[in-house]
Amino acid sequence: MKKEDIAKPEGKLGILIPGLGAVSTTFIAGVLRIKKGLSKPIGSLTQMGKIRIGKGDSSKDINIKDFVPLANLNDLEFGAWDIFEDDAYESACKAAVLKTEDIEPVKKELSAIKPWKAVFNREYVKKLDGPWVKKAKTYMDLAQMVKDDINNFKKEKNVTRMIMVWCGSTEIYQEIVPGVHDTLANFEKALKESNPKIAPSMIYAYAALDLGIPYANGAPNLCTDIPALRELADKNRVCISGKDFKTGQTLMKTILGPGLKARMIGVNGWFSTNILGNRDGEVLDDPGSFKTKEVSKLSVLDRIFQPELYPDLYKDYYHKVTINYYPPRGDNKEGWDNIDIFGWLGYPMQIKVDFLCRDSILAAPIVLDLALLIDLAQRSAMYGIQEWLSFYWKSPMYEPGAHPTHDLFVQLMKLKNTLRWLMDVPPVTFLGSESYD
Ligand SMILES: NC(=O)c1ccc[n+]([C@@H]2O[C@H](COP(=O)([O-])OP(=O)(O)OC[C@H]3O[C@@H](n4cnc5c(N)ncnc54)[C@H](O)[C@@H]3O)[C@@H](O)[C@H]2O)c1
Repeated sequence: MKKEDIAKPEGKLGILIPGLGAVSTTFIAGVLRIKKGLSKPIGSLTQMGKIRIGKGDSSKDINIKDFVPLANLNDLEFGAWDIFEDDAYESACKAAVLKTEDIEPVKKELSAIKPWKAVFNREYVKKLDGPWVKKAKTYMDLAQMVKDDINNFKKEKNVTRMIMVWCGSTEIYQEIVPGVHDTLANFEKALKESNPKIAPSMIYAYAALDLGIPYANGAPNLCTDIPALRELADKNRVCISGKDFKTGQTLMKTILGPGLKARMIGVNGWFSTNILGNRDGEVLDDPGSFKTKEVSKLSVLDRIFQPELYPDLYKDYYHKVTINYYPPRGDNKEGWDNIDIFGWLGYPMQIKVDFLCRDSILAAPIVLDLALLIDLAQRSAMYGIQEWLSFYWKSPMYEPGAHPTHDLFVQLMKLKNTLRWLMDVPPVTFLGSESYD
């Protein structure tokens, strides 16, 4: 890659968000506070992270945001859709992630973000219903209405580039349906016929990709995993990335799991349970939506432990994940893990993790990083699945025939080496005096 070939981040970047709930309002309010110098971007690799360049005595650690040409926070504009008419201020207050005293200083800007009517189908999110919903004759017409929202936003806010990141509720579990999801031609035909196998998230993604706008999938929904939308991304040379923000318990798994594996410690079982009281928890109380989440959460450990390669350590280990909706807890989830491990001569041990986490506080910096990095990728003429962004995902998307990487530290190395490649400097191989990152 030649760094001169990367288009400069000139003008404003529009961040389009289906779902103006806990995660997205925490993200937007945070960016607004950071811009005013009221908070620091804790948890954001693009804003706080450094990257090591060069070798030995001549090496230096540079801020990632000074190393690669990223959009500036002052150049971000936000647009969103939701099934409720609440503006971003009202929604942030209802989500109750942030304290009132943290929301008030950015009230004016948040109140100005009024959601467009959503594309919604209750069949896909059984626990939710709302009045702020688009109506049209066909799904293709709905896609056109989403495109109209985007084009109006572009004009009104005078943005030069846009990205879309799904922060809407988790839709029910779905598998690829041949004849509907398999090719772009079939998918477009199915849109015109309003085929019920097309989920709302797919309609937003179709609209974005058709306009050449990169799409990131924050939930575990099938969405851009379908071949039809991947075909569209390739055809229009647009970036896609997903899926399911890696926060909370799964983040812990991808930190602890690789450590146990590195030391050849065996695992008999990993029991995970959560209590969660926000709207996301309520949606996940429905078995259809939970199944989507469960598949995403369960996939992580198998790939890390590779039981087929290490049967003495990981064959038949039992992995169980549950989420319990418990309203008093709000967004402040509690995730418990009991890990049954064994060491030398097979002697058993246990690890207990009790993570009193804040879901949206962990997710918000991920939304920021993804928006900035996927925009960078698009300006660098990359397209299709961005595997180097797997660092941010519970279920990283990958090319057919490949395998996702779940180990957080391998994912970080992959991300940083991709940034080095983009800027035309050699990757770090951790040999000799290169052993810092
Ligand atoms: N918070 C985390 O740590 C985390 C981690 C991974 C994934 N996620 C996923 O991110 C998503 C958002 O999480 P949240 O905590 O903000 O949930 P939330 O319920 O607070 O917000 C979701 C919003 O999406 C809206 N919505 C639902 N369907 C829609 C549609 N078709 N179009 C437009 N809006 C729609 C809802 O009305 C709601 O306001 C969920 O799918 C969640 O599973 C969150």
